Amino acid sequence: MTVTWSIEDAEKGGYPHYMLKEIMEQPRVLFETYTGLASSRELENAAKLLSNAEKIFVTGAGTSYHAGLVFAYYMARIAKRPVIPFISSEYLAYRDMDHSNSVLVAISQSGETIDTLQAVRSFKSSGGRVIAVSNVIGSTIPREADVTVYTRAGPEIGVAATKTFLTQVLALTGMALTLAQYNGSMTQNEYRKAMDTLKNAGHAASAGIDRSIRAVELLASSLRSKGNIYVLGRGLGVALAYEAALKIKEVSYIHAEAYPAGESKHGPIALVEDGFPVIFVGVPPREELHEKLQSNVMEMKARGASTIVVGVSGYDDLKGVDFYIDVGNYDEILAPYAVVPPFQLLAYKLAVMLNRDPDKPRNLAKTVTVE
Ligand code: AGP
Repeated sequence: MTVTWSIEDAEKGGYPHYMLKEIMEQPRVLFETYTGLASSRELENAAKLLSNAEKIFVTGAGTSYHAGLVFAYYMARIAKRPVIPFISSEYLAYRDMDHSNSVLVAISQSGETIDTLQAVRSFKSSGGRVIAVSNVIGSTIPREADVTVYTRAGPEIGVAATKTFLTQVLALTGMALTLAQYNGSMTQNEYRKAMDTLKNAGHAASAGIDRSIRAVELLASSLRSKGNIYVLGRGLGVALAYEAALKIKEVSYIHAEAYPAGESKHGPIALVEDGFPVIFVGVPPREELHEKLQSNVMEMKARGASTIVVGVSGYDDLKGVDFYIDVGNYDEILAPYAVVPPFQLLAYKLAVMLNRDPDKPRNLAKTVTVE
């Protein structure tokens, strides 16, 4: 039997879609991004700017904004610096401030998103300095920034951001760690240990993929007929929940909504009825979050929800959970790389099951260059 390969098949490395190829490339491109950054001065240049800043802002659109939320979390936890995150199309809120002592971290994998470019120009016009985090060398936002930290994800063809998100998270974590070392929040030894941990991001992504790829098939079958899905998180898990919900929405067209799990009783739980799927993102530190997550699970269970946990080890003893994907035992630095791929695979699987094109979702473009 002759196997015929089209050029497009070859371009997709034999995968049926670019999105799946790019999910599976994550272990490699995470390692390449780490080694590229470790052998450059990009992180040091960014940390220098951040250490002199009075105020630090972070912005982006869509998935890049979610990476910004992860950055704000790590900056508070690791570098003890507050960061103000905002969605780039809402930059006007800050236009009347004097930014002469502000730094804006502008995240854009394409480097061309108009909303984020306008935020950059607005900050610079009021004296602010800009650090770009981008995947495209020489694109507009890096050209207009003072410093650029590049991810090394390679071209991302699928409209849904996958490998560019996790490589952004790695670059941003590197920035927070380098600043922490600069400002004394971490000793040299702690910094070295943390960077050695970060070096294993690719392994964590590999484990996340291997440990979920079968279970995701089952989960997708049970979710494919649902009209609504909640994806809830606490701590670091909130940003990851937002990214998970966006992935599911944009490729499967199922309405998925994310919010901080603690918010449920302040309104959203009104929607929950029999069989309503609620996915919880289980991240470290387990000792701080386990009890809170347990009460969130029970409050949903009590209202008939079908409860799912996708998370690191240590949440298997949660009562009231119908389905648990354990991605392995990871700390706060590595958790995103193991926890996020299962959601990317879930979104991909749902799209394929529902006969939607995961590479070219309806109404969407890869880069939004017009308002
Ligand atoms: C995410 O899957 C989408 N493709 C979209 O939200 C994207 O993240 C957003 O348009 C920002 O693009 P950028 O990173 O190129 O600026």
